[in-house]
Amino acid sequence: MHLSIIMDGNGRWAKAKGLNRTEGHKKGAQVVKEITTFCANNDKINYLSLYAFSTENWKRPKYEVEFLMKLLDNWLKNELDTYLKNEVKFEVIGDISKFSDKLQKRIEITREKTKNFTKLTQVLALNYGGRDEITRAVKKLCDNKEKISDENINKYLDTAIHNIPDVDLLIRTSGEIRVSNFLLWQIAYAEMFFTKTLWPDFTPQELEKIIEDFEKRERRYGGI
Ligand code: FPP
Repeated sequence: MHLSIIMDGNGRWAKAKGLNRTEGHKKGAQVVKEITTFCANNDKINYLSLYAFSTENWKRPKYEVEFLMKLLDNWLKNELDTYLKNEVKFEVIGDISKFSDKLQKRIEITREKTKNFTKLTQVLALNYGGRDEITRAVKKLCDNKEKISDENINKYLDTAIHNIPDVDLLIRTSGEIRVSNFLLWQIAYAEMFFTKTLWPDFTPQELEKIIEDFEKRERRYGGI
């Protein structure tokens, strides 16, 4: 199954502890590692997509944007071992052409070194927006003068380009009940879970409980 997570609440977690927001992102990155390792060793989960940086996140203060870029770069450098050890394939959706050459190169290296792994595909959404993704796909369709159809739009989405299926389960942490422009097309029939837990406090144990709950739900995809 494809599990998708909107990792929210890093800033609030840090604030509650009297820390700078960036400390929340640091702790958040550790949780990414724990959850990824858990998913790699859980046979039910084949895809884990994580909303790491949205097309709207550029509006944050410059120092925070720069911190997130640096954190990501360090993450890819230091955690390559985690990908290799757990046999996790790394993939990215979003328009990374706006990132520095250095970061783009780092992303490419991680992709290349992990491309043959099949235990789990971890998909980081970077400079990603659901509307932006659909708009880019429709532009390609028009440029190629192809017929406008559900199938044809789908095939040009970042997810389809990388063979990532629709979302089965979407989780958002931190108590906000909204989708915030994440995977708009791909969540058409996703089951959704909202937890009050802030992302830095999210644990594999809580994820396990949510998956149990998800398995009890009856999915009808519009049928009866
Ligand atoms: C939302 O919390 C989180 C983000 C915008 C960034 C997500 C980044 C991480 C979890 C860490 C880095 C990830 C990787 C893969 C290294 P927020 O800042 O919106 O929190 P708030 O709503 O409480 O302010």
